[in-house]
Amino acid sequence: SLTVKWRGKPVFIRHRPEDQIKAAEDVPLNQLPDPQPDSARVQKPEWLIVIGVCTHLGCIPLGQNPGENRGPYGGWFCPCHGSIYDTSGRIRQGPAPANLAVPTYAFTADTKVKIG
Ligand code: FES
Repeated sequence: SLTVKWRGKPVFIRHRPEDQIKAAEDVPLNQLPDPQPDSARVQKPEWLIVIGVCTHLGCIPLGQNPGENRGPYGGWFCPCHGSIYDTSGRIRQGPAPANLAVPTYAFTADTKVKIG
């Protein structure tokens, strides 16, 4: 995982292993508070890129650094009021009303991405 700053906000970039991709793809949409298929949130399944700002009150969720609590879905956990995001950055539990936002981005090479 890598965090970069874009327009004053953290952007979470996570290289997802197979199990995280599969977990994200296998969730039935009717279990999601903000239903969105994983395929609509990534350009390449192995790279998830989201704005790291909780959609509840704007805290920065934990889960980017080794050893941080990622919550039961392996994504991110926001300790403010306990919002829990999955490996697609989708809200799964807690008060946040929406998934972590996906910024505009484009791959300029296999491992190079331009955000914005
Ligand atoms: Fe994330 Fe409140 S800002 S749960």
